[in-house]
Amino acid sequence: MAYFVWDEDLDVGVESMNDQHRHLIDLMETVYQKNRGGASRDEILAAVDDLGAFVIEHFRDEEAMMAEQGFPGLDAHRQLHANLLADFSRHTEAFRNSEATELPEDFMAFLSLWINTHIMAIDTKYSPE
Ligand SMILES: [Fe+2]
Ligand SMILES: [Fe+2]
Repeated sequence: MAYFVWDEDLDVGVESMNDQHRHLIDLMETVYQKNRGGASRDEILAAVDDLGAFVIEHFRDEEAMMAEQGFPGLDAHRQLHANLLADFSRHTEAFRNSEATELPEDFMAFLSLWINTHIMAIDTKYSPE
């Protein structure tokens, strides 16, 4: 059963961003499944790095979309993205520099919180209605 799933509560009212969020959540799900499925450290790290690369792309596209819309909360939103990315890098580097063979629970908790507090509570604010 999937752990990270997109559903209508995450609908931000902009279809291109919904598509990106679905992809983002799929990449999170891949990390989750590799981690629990006994994949090697290298495979887990590759999945985490794929997620990280897409996060950068998504934040850039989302900020460009908000700028185009003249969304007033853009600066604050940009700062939240920078904080999320910093936290993501901190978690990733801690794993990369450890001997651990699995990601810790708090990594999954962090991803889960990202979906529920950032996408659901913050991204939905740029929704046109
Ligand atoms: Fe987003
Ligand atoms: Fe965002």
